[in-house]
Amino acid sequence: MSNQEYLLSPDRQWTDTEVELIWKKPASHTASEEEIRICQEIKRNWNRGEMKIANLLLEGDAGSGKTQLAKALSANFRLPYTKVTCFADMDKSDIIGAILPVLSSERLEKLELEDREALQALYDSDGFQSAAEVLMNALGLSQEEAAGKLRQLFKQAADDRNGESVEYRFYPSEIVRAYQHGYLLEIQEPNVIRDAAVLMALNSALELDGSLNLPTEVIRRHPDFIAVITTNRSYAGARPLNEALRDRVQHSEKMDLPAKAVMIERAMAKTGYRNEEVLDVLAQTIIVLDQTARANAIKGIAGMRSYFYWVDAVAGGAAAAESLYYKVIYKMTTDSEEIKLLEDALRDRRLLESLHEMEIKKKTSSRHGGDAGLGNDRRFRFCL
Ligand SMILES: Nc1ncnc2c1ncn2[C@@H]1O[C@H](COP(=O)(O)OP(=O)(O)OP(=O)(O)O)[C@@H](O)[C@H]1O
Ligand SMILES: [Mg+2]
Repeated sequence: MSNQEYLLSPDRQWTDTEVELIWKKPASHTASEEEIRICQEIKRNWNRGEMKIANLLLEGDAGSGKTQLAKALSANFRLPYTKVTCFADMDKSDIIGAILPVLSSERLEKLELEDREALQALYDSDGFQSAAEVLMNALGLSQEEAAGKLRQLFKQAADDRNGESVEYRFYPSEIVRAYQHGYLLEIQEPNVIRDAAVLMALNSALELDGSLNLPTEVIRRHPDFIAVITTNRSYAGARPLNEALRDRVQHSEKMDLPAKAVMIERAMAKTGYRNEEVLDVLAQTIIVLDQTARANAIKGIAGMRSYFYWVDAVAGGAAAAESLYYKVIYKMTTDSEEIKLLEDALRDRRLLESLHEMEIKKKTSSRHGGDAGLGNDRRFRFCL
């Protein structure tokens, strides 16, 4: 894919910090069909007014490549990539941002150390990072903890209105920042949000010609802003993605465990391991485990991440049949009955046997002076 092909706003000037946020594809990245389709669609409709495509939904299996696809769009369109990971008790300030008082140094002194550090970090910030991000960096908090801290500071400020009159400053959220400056924003798992008012705020932020009412000003959606919602498909018992939110996307992709050839291609690129026969058996094993888990309501996931680490272990000399447990099966479940179901499915398709045979071939070939070097195609010659 040529570098320029999908540029959306070729004349835009970016600051150095913004350029840093534009994703650079690693050598191991391979463009998927979905990536090419989305880029063509967005490019085609970019200047078509109301028909513009700027809200996307990528829904499907864990590890199927949703986040990497969102990042690849950042690289192809040359838009800074930012993300927000949603959590159950998100509130409106997590969508919009928070107003905090600017305290005098005397009043700062009276606060608990962590609150003082938090406020100081916010005062010192240049307004480029979102408030939550400032706290995550300054205090080493998770996104959720940072949101909690902001809420606490906010509440404290509200309770403490008496006394000296204070100046307030508005700290925008990550969403507002991307919305206002025209970045590509990945919104991870918005289905977990419980508060309907928060979902409404998010919905209105996704209107194509929308605007956001901030406490300090009204800001309009930047024409380059692209929102990519990524979410796992809802399973029984999980909260499905809000219908109104779903309705606001103009293009969606069903992301599943990729086809076997794509799995092998990605694993080769990531691990440098090239024995296609081995890669094939391991990929088939993952596919069968994934299907069996679904059919039997086993919650664990046999996906791309397990595949990469398993391939890597085998490439490093681990026995495939044994490392299957540490890299794949025990990650899915440690329940004996479920493990038996998974093993039976592999046995039915002779995959357990193939994994064991690989070991025997490996041992025999090294006894006969066979080269056991990484990536040597003759290393595991066996018939399936
Ligand atoms: N196009 C690709 N080329 C090469 N590797 C890829 C590609 N897409 C995804 N991967 C790799 O697959 C793994 C999982 O990808 P990613 O994190 O994007 O999945 P996800 O669908 O966002 O998962 P989750 O649901 O857990 O958030 C990562 O190691 C990633 O580098
Ligand atoms: Mg992801």
